[in-house]
Amino acid sequence: VSQVDFDRYAESYNDLLREQTRFFSADEAYFARYKVALARRLVTRDPARILEYGCGIGRNIAFLRDAFPRAQIVGSDVSAKSLELARAANPGTEFRLEDDQWHDAGFDLAFVAGVFHHIPPPARTAAAKLLASRLRSGGTLVVFEHNPYNPVTRRIVSNCPYDEDAVLLRPRELRGLIAGADLAGIRQGYTLFFPPRLTWLARIEPLLSWLPLGGQYWVSATA
Ligand SMILES: C[S@@+](CC[C@H](N)C(=O)[O-])C[C@H]1O[C@@H](n2cnc3c(N)ncnc32)[C@H](O)[C@@H]1O
Repeated sequence: VSQVDFDRYAESYNDLLREQTRFFSADEAYFARYKVALARRLVTRDPARILEYGCGIGRNIAFLRDAFPRAQIVGSDVSAKSLELARAANPGTEFRLEDDQWHDAGFDLAFVAGVFHHIPPPARTAAAKLLASRLRSGGTLVVFEHNPYNPVTRRIVSNCPYDEDAVLLRPRELRGLIAGADLAGIRQGYTLFFPPRLTWLARIEPLLSWLPLGGQYWVSATA
């Protein structure tokens, strides 16, 4: 299957996501909120500059702004159409097309959510290296991915039109890519076990990060 062109899904992205994830949370912003909250816990220093790589229509940007009010935030994507929507929804944030035409090694945090499974496997090593090259020494990379061990996640992915090209990564593969890009201090955790309406259970999720049953997982590392 050839790579999905997210320009085609820019307008319908939120509706499709809502449809697929309604059983879990009626508020699709929950998914953005929990990732940013987790990234907030993983960074040691307050980041001055943040890159959201593969930001799509910019669903995470407002949450990054709230969590890191002093940071300069840059969103990037290969989909020009998605970036147009991201710009319209987030005035004051800079968005850049990923066209191999720019280099910027000054980010303290690179935040990447649900992007690697859309990158064709042979291109993933280069993508990990690109991300590492964008980090300042001591900067943090946080990557979120769908958990291929979770059958519900796999079903959502196989039903979702813009996931047609998705090839899910096992945590070991993602860790290998990140280690291969010379990043250190690699950590990982599973997340998204309970719907947010089960407030109390959702709150103890950090205690379950070892359990390979969460809907997603994260890997973090330091430059
Ligand atoms: C499932 S969407 C996730 C969007 C956003 N990160 C979020 O959490 O809502 C995947 C995004 O990755 C982008 N993408 C795919 N390959 C990419 C690449 N090599 N570099 C940057 N972005 C890429 C797609 O265009 C799409 O916008």
